[in-house]
Amino acid sequence: MMRRMKLVLSIIVVLTWSTFAVGGDRPTTIEEFMSLNNPTRVIAHRGFSGRAPENTLIAIERAISVGAEMVEVDVTVTADGHVICLHDETLDRTSSGSGLPGEFTLKEIKTLDAGSWFAPEFAGERVPTLAEVLGAVKGRILINVEIKPEAVEHGVVPKVADLINLHEMIDQVVVSSFAPEALRLMKIVDPAVITASLFNKEIHTDRDPLEIIQEVGSRGLNVSGGRVTPEMVDRCHSHQIPVAVYTINDALEMRRMMELGVDAVFSDHPDRMLEVTAESPGSLREFDHPLTVTQPG
Ligand code: G3P
Ligand code: MG
Repeated sequence: MMRRMKLVLSIIVVLTWSTFAVGGDRPTTIEEFMSLNNPTRVIAHRGFSGRAPENTLIAIERAISVGAEMVEVDVTVTADGHVICLHDETLDRTSSGSGLPGEFTLKEIKTLDAGSWFAPEFAGERVPTLAEVLGAVKGRILINVEIKPEAVEHGVVPKVADLINLHEMIDQVVVSSFAPEALRLMKIVDPAVITASLFNKEIHTDRDPLEIIQEVGSRGLNVSGGRVTPEMVDRCHSHQIPVAVYTINDALEMRRMMELGVDAVFSDHPDRMLEVTAESPGSLREFDHPLTVTQPG
């Protein structure tokens, strides 16, 4: 009788765990995701934004269904201090509203349609709060929360730290930003929050990405596909820093990224990236002589 109960319990434990691991070996912690020598990881950029309105709950659900290993969202703050998911500095492109998010309360922003601009079938989709997003992804998919630089002066950093802790998701969230001061501040507010430095030559001019990483104590480098180089990848790896590249939507570019040995790829089309990784799981990074490639941009 006891043995039967034990068997039933074991089955329940295995089934519960496997709900997280939909899509095979989906990593369950940021540490696991960011460890080196894994097959190239797939990050759904702003959710499955190639197929659903970016930075919305429906785009995140679609990213989970397709089997992405991480979802990325951009965050900023409302006039009344709520953290919401929005990429642009204004509401204009991705909602029925107009103007700066910081000029409206959450209640006002929640009246906006954040889906119709993408396709009529998404009419009525709302701008989500980070709290709603964390609640939706917890235990299902890892998340990269990108703090928009313009929100830093409005107190977004401690608010994001509070939300991560409130949801007990310190091991499931990585916080990134183009603003080194956001990541530096995050380490002061809560050193346990894992961060990644977003690098862009236009913003950071001739700075060495590794120098920025060391200065702000971040764990990873997120760099654009036009800027990543084999030397950058090798140098980061020699310091145990994983490299994630954005935003790669073309299958040829995806293969090129794998040949460079990057650790993860942000894509609006995570389904495409998953197909590419399935063609040659993990093998491209092991090439002794990575292919010579032309750098766009
Ligand atoms: O975090 C990677 C990527 O999202 C950075 O650029 O402008 O799409 O937020 P952007
Ligand atoms: Mg982003």
